[in-house]
Amino acid sequence: MGLSSKLMVPTTLFIVLSLSLTITHVQSNGEGFISVQIFEKGLDFAKDLLIDKAVSSIIPLQLPDIEKTVKIRLIGKVHILLSNITINQVDIASSYVSTGESGIVLVASGATANLSMRWQYSYTTWLIPIAITDKGDASVQVEGMVVGLTANLENQEGKLKLHLLECGCHVKDISIKLDGGASWLYQGVVDAFEAKIASAVESSISNKIREGIIKLDSLLQSLPEHIPVYSIAVLNVTFVDNPVLSNSSIEFDINGLVTSKDAVLVSNHNHKGWKGSFSCSSLAKMVQISLQDDVFNSASFVYFDEDYMHWIVDKVPDQSLLNTSGWRYIAPQLYKQYPNDDMNLNISVSSPPIIKVAKDDIDAIINLDLTIYVIDAGQVIPVACISLEISTSSSAEIMGNNLAGSIRLKDFTTYLKWSEIGDLQIHLLQPVMSTLIKTALLPYVNLHLRRGIPLPLPHGFTLQNAEIVCTCSRAIVCSDLSLPGQYHLSSSHFATTKHSNVT
Ligand SMILES: *[C@@H]1O[C@H](CO)[C@@H](O)[C@H](O)[C@H]1NC(C)=O
Ligand SMILES: *[C@@H]1O[C@H](CO)[C@@H](O)[C@H](O)[C@H]1NC(C)=O
Ligand SMILES: *[C@@H]1O[C@H](CO)[C@@H](O)[C@H](O)[C@H]1NC(C)=O
Ligand SMILES: *[C@@H]1O[C@H](CO)[C@@H](O)[C@H](O)[C@H]1NC(C)=O
Ligand SMILES: *[C@@H]1O[C@H](CO)[C@@H](O)[C@H](O)[C@H]1NC(C)=O
Ligand SMILES: *[C@@H]1O[C@H](CO)[C@@H](O)[C@H](O)[C@H]1NC(C)=O
Repeated sequence: MGLSSKLMVPTTLFIVLSLSLTITHVQSNGEGFISVQIFEKGLDFAKDLLIDKAVSSIIPLQLPDIEKTVKIRLIGKVHILLSNITINQVDIASSYVSTGESGIVLVASGATANLSMRWQYSYTTWLIPIAITDKGDASVQVEGMVVGLTANLENQEGKLKLHLLECGCHVKDISIKLDGGASWLYQGVVDAFEAKIASAVESSISNKIREGIIKLDSLLQSLPEHIPVYSIAVLNVTFVDNPVLSNSSIEFDINGLVTSKDAVLVSNHNHKGWKGSFSCSSLAKMVQISLQDDVFNSASFVYFDEDYMHWIVDKVPDQSLLNTSGWRYIAPQLYKQYPNDDMNLNISVSSPPIIKVAKDDIDAIINLDLTIYVIDAGQVIPVACISLEISTSSSAEIMGNNLAGSIRLKDFTTYLKWSEIGDLQIHLLQPVMSTLIKTALLPYVNLHLRRGIPLPLPHGFTLQNAEIVCTCSRAIVCSDLSLPGQYHLSSSHFATTKHSNVT
């Protein structure tokens, strides 16, 4: 036997917002060299992930037992106990997220939930003084549930702190179906317990949201302050200033400079305010990550400082360039003095390469000394040193989650720094230098540049359909994100179906 009824809990308009707190709205003081902006599409993505994760972590949710003595006509006082009340499934019909100066508002509405429980009763009458008892199962369907929260993000000593300002759950309809039991019992349960079940659902879900926010907050607290840039350097991803919440995006500024792994030093980068006007066409992509050229320069500085910019070249595609016979016509004195000897080149960058992001281009100036060695009878003899100033342009590309690039030769100048073999004709050297730059130096540098600088993304997320725009002094990555592991979040053992639509 199954009876069912619906009770309309008076639908008070669910008010999520109460702006009792004034949020200090601190404008960036321009300390951050990387800025990350999450647009509406990204906020929706994050919201769907959060809801998905929240639902799977909430269910199955056990509510406290409900017990009550109910007076039922013709029967008298009946003691009823509802136990093992469990929410087994939650479906969310629609949800939305909005941001503003007041914080982040997330509302899921039209949610339904299925509950199961056990009922049992006992009573005695003056006629039959022995206790009469019975028990069975029941299922409860909750409909029109609205769940909402308002939270705010704040910078607390370089970490993001998530504050829950407001949170609530409101149940609109509830219907109970008993398996077994008498119709008088059914009416008793419906009359006496509907409101209690509804409020138990409301408070349990609100509590779960509070717990969830605490977990999310500790997740934010556990975000690293540094991301390793290979083995020698780190990218400082400490948050700078409070996140700026506008009506369609959240913007985070992070320090964004690369420092050597052990250094405590903060390079004094000249920072000019740069709240520029450029923005990825904000509806199209989830996030925008802007890197000022100081980021690249800080990396360049560290690699230079850590002595990573010296190379001994003893192999080139045209190996005759590393034999004095190949220099016979360029530097006759060299050939004369060391005929048919092998040569080595010591390429040594002499100051940190300077990187400038320009419109549609990233330019770099590399100053280096190229020392020519001759290997004569097993002895390595330095014979001349040529200084080069190389100007390159580069195109940026995304490799995994890294911003990588490759440089091309634009131009270079040479002068002879010193020579043990007399004066060298610089104009004769130019073609050889050009060949060496193109075939030995740049491929080697590009091999390293292809690894790139890691972009500050939370663990597990990957860029998708990223585009790079270079403007005056900033490289901007506009991208969608995906979370390849997200299917684990909604693994089927939660016995749940979830979907949410953006409204
Ligand atoms: C409580 O309910 C859950 C879910 O319906 C069920 O798996 C479990 O066996 C029940 N426990 C008891 C003691 O009835
Ligand atoms: C939840 O309730 C709905 C409507 O009564 C039903 O279609 C659905 O199968 C139920 N799900 C579970 C897991 O009981
Ligand atoms: C968001 O703010 C901008 C200007 O700050 C305004 O033009 C726009 O209409 C606002 N959008 C919404 C949905 O409020
Ligand atoms: C990282 O950035 C923060 C914020 O700008 C700064 O206070 C801190 O000193 C930096 N850490 C290092 C090692 O440079
Ligand atoms: C340098 O080149 C000459 C001519 O090609 C060759 O005979 C000689 O063996 C080379 N020297 C070495 C060390 O390979
Ligand atoms: C290469 O040249 C640089 C500077 O010209 C020098 O400091 C370095 O010791 C040289 N390396 C080798 C292996 O000779």
